[in-house]
Amino acid sequence: MKKITIAIDGYSSCGKSTMAKDLAREIGYVYVDSGAMYRAVTLYALDNGIIQGDEIDEERLRAEMGNIEISFQFNPERGRPDTYLNGVCVEDRIRTLEVSNHVSPIAALGFVREAMVRQQQRMGQEGGIIMDGRDIGTTVFPNAELKIFVTASAEIRAQRRYDELKAKGEQCDFQEILRNVEERDYIDTHREISPLRQAADAIVLDNSHMTIDEQKGWLIGEYIRVACG
Ligand code: CDP
Repeated sequence: MKKITIAIDGYSSCGKSTMAKDLAREIGYVYVDSGAMYRAVTLYALDNGIIQGDEIDEERLRAEMGNIEISFQFNPERGRPDTYLNGVCVEDRIRTLEVSNHVSPIAALGFVREAMVRQQQRMGQEGGIIMDGRDIGTTVFPNAELKIFVTASAEIRAQRRYDELKAKGEQCDFQEILRNVEERDYIDTHREISPLRQAADAIVLDNSHMTIDEQKGWLIGEYIRVACG
C-alpha cells in the first residue's frame, strides 16, 4: 500500500490528536501534533519572561527563535510522542490552561508560523505521516492525499477538555475552559496568516455525538479508501 500524507485540521479540543495518534499506531505512520510545537514556543516565551501579562515582546521572541529546539520522542507507555523543548520533556507543562491561554496570539505571529511550518514540512518529506493542527491541509501539506476537517460544538469540546484536565488531577473551571475554547476559535479563524479554514478538498467530520471508537472506525475507513484507491 502506498505511503500517503494525512492532514487533520479543526477547532480546538475536538479530539483530533486522539484520532490521529490512534490511526498512526494502527498503520505504522509517524504522528506529529503541530499544536504541541506552538505550545512549546509559548512555554519558552512564558518561562523566559517574553510574555508578561497579555503583552508579548515580539522582537525578543523573533531574536530567540533560533534558541528554540522542538523535538518528539515516542513514549511507549502513552502510545504517542512526548514533546521536548531544548532536550527537556515538556509534555505535561504545555497542556496547562496557562499555556492554552497564551498560545493562539503566539501562533498568529508570522515568524513563528514560518519557522514551525518549515520544520513540519521537513518531517513530512517521506510521506507516511499524520499531522494534526489548523493549517495542515491548507498550508503545510496542500497536496496531502487525505484531508479531514473535524468539528464539534464548543460546549462539547470544552466538556472534553474539562474531563481531560480533571482526570490529570488539575483544578479547573468549566466556564473558564469554555471561554478559552471560544477565544481560541475566534483568534484561529480570524488571524491574517493561515487562518483555520476547511480546505476545499477536505472531508468534514462532526464528531459531537460520536464515541472515540466510532470516530476511529470512520477514520480507518477513510484511510483504506484513499490508500487503496
Ligand atoms: O489541543 P487543542 O486542539 O486544544 O489545541 P492544539 O492543537 O494543541 O493547538 C494549540 C493552538 O496552537 C491552537 O489554538 C492554535 O492557535 C495553534 N495552532 C496553529 O495555529 N496551527 C497549528 N497547525 C496547530 C495549532
